[in-house]
Amino acid sequence: MAKKLRTLIAANWKMHGDMSWVFKPADFAGLYHADSRKHLDVLICPPATLLGSMLDPEQTGVLLGGQDCHAETSGAHTGKISAEMLKDAGASYVIVGHSECRAAGDTDADVNAKAKAAARAGIIPIICVGETEAERNKGKAQAVVSAQIKASLPKLKDYVIAYEPVWAIGTGKTATPDDVDEMHNAIREQVGAKVRILYGGSVKPANAESLLALKNVNGALIGGAGLEMESLAEIAKAAPQP
Ligand code: 13P
Repeated sequence: MAKKLRTLIAANWKMHGDMSWVFKPADFAGLYHADSRKHLDVLICPPATLLGSMLDPEQTGVLLGGQDCHAETSGAHTGKISAEMLKDAGASYVIVGHSECRAAGDTDADVNAKAKAAARAGIIPIICVGETEAERNKGKAQAVVSAQIKASLPKLKDYVIAYEPVWAIGTGKTATPDDVDEMHNAIREQVGAKVRILYGGSVKPANAESLLALKNVNGALIGGAGLEMESLAEIAKAAPQP
């Protein structure tokens, strides 16, 4: 049932990239293969400065997203970007509640408001959750993630959850397929059958296949390995056929 959902392979470029990173047609040629467009969405979330210069998703099939947004539409919020602005620049998704933003002060309530703002703007929020290493060691991983989802998730029709254990982000430590399976099954119980649940945290071509094969893993949110189009393409190739 859950595997009928489209797989979403999302690259979060974080604070990397200048104008030389803006795609040329050859860059994304390998992101889709054979007839994978039928069941796969590839999404790039570049720094907002590059968003408006990327090739049109309607032509390339490569979707674009923001990395964060403000809860309001506009106003006196120096340095912030609204969901409406992201949409205007070509985004159809936005990441909210990334652990790097939570570490910088975003609360569950903030994430909830940002997710609501995304829906208001007509773009899909990717709501990130994940436990710290200390929380996992205390046996609290599922309770923490479940509470984060409860508090960060407004009533929405269309959204994506990204489970990113904090200790696996940028560390090279990946959660084992068993740990991911257990957590994603618990998240599935909480959010229902129609929501895509991504795994993030040191996803690489070498481990993508075993993670993407899990029943309730509907895609990946990728940092480091998403900065190179070749490794992103290899991860996209690991997406299972429906
Ligand atoms: P890495 O893939 O570099 O661990 O980053 C994961 C991440 O934070 C994606 O949002």
